[in-house]
Amino acid sequence: MKAEITPQEYEAFKTFLQDACGILLGDNKQYLVKSRLRRILEENSLNSLGELLERLKRPGRSNLKEVVIDAMTTNETLWFRDNHPFRILQEKLLPEFAERKNNQPLRIWSAACSTGQEPYSVAMVTEEFRRNRPGRLRDVKIVATDISKSVLEVARRGEYEMLAIGRGLSPERQKQFFASSANGGWQIKPQIKSMVEFKELNLLERYLLGKFDVILCRNVLIYFSADLKKDILTRLHASLNPDGYLILGASESLNGLSHLYEMVQCHPGIIYRKK
Ligand SMILES: C[S@@+](CC[C@H](N)C(=O)[O-])C[C@H]1O[C@@H](n2cnc3c(N)ncnc32)[C@H](O)[C@@H]1O
Repeated sequence: MKAEITPQEYEAFKTFLQDACGILLGDNKQYLVKSRLRRILEENSLNSLGELLERLKRPGRSNLKEVVIDAMTTNETLWFRDNHPFRILQEKLLPEFAERKNNQPLRIWSAACSTGQEPYSVAMVTEEFRRNRPGRLRDVKIVATDISKSVLEVARRGEYEMLAIGRGLSPERQKQFFASSANGGWQIKPQIKSMVEFKELNLLERYLLGKFDVILCRNVLIYFSADLKKDILTRLHASLNPDGYLILGASESLNGLSHLYEMVQCHPGIIYRKK
């Protein structure tokens, strides 16, 4: 980006981003915008943020909006992130659903799944549970969604470099659930991969995915305004089956929604049951 970002351009970009994907930029994040968009501006021969905003307004089939959203989202993730949500699944939720479901399908939604580590971790825990309790929870479906096409591509491929594999995955699980691939990476095995279906979904738009027993919505609401967060949590509530559970990120909580969700203390960790 050749020109400095003017205050007007910055305000207009903040509005664009919030409307497009909910992300609320702070007042002094010009450096972040500059560094994340530099390559896009160069590739499109644009000189300023203002020129980019003008181009984004033009009708047409350009994928520029997607590319900008991709660049501005934070896709940081790892296997079994924070550990306790997966322990809670293994020790509390899966046994509970194994009793309650009577072999009817169990549906889990990983909303904002990034490159797939979260839904695949859920799938591994489910597979481990089934090995210990043969015949139980035979029909488990994990739906994993994200706004970003590029992270979904990685997730669907299910192949990870050693560096990514090393983040949160135990050697035992690596050995059990991955096979080394021809180009030096690690490929998730079909039995885990086939449990997860990836779809593109913007959390700001309608959810046409049916109802779920467990929803993980982790480390994405932190980027949104309080009002938007409330709106999304209300719509997630509508996507849960009766007595379904919501799992949030470690630094996220529910404020002012105690009429919708009941807090369940799990020592360690907190989850929320649909009221
Ligand atoms: C930090 S990652 C969290 C990944 C995973 N849930 C975890 O906790 O490790 C946040 C993800 O949210 C996605 N995201 C951001 N805005 C979104 C939106 N409006 N709708 C759906 N996904 C969104 C990003 O593309 C990114 O992959």
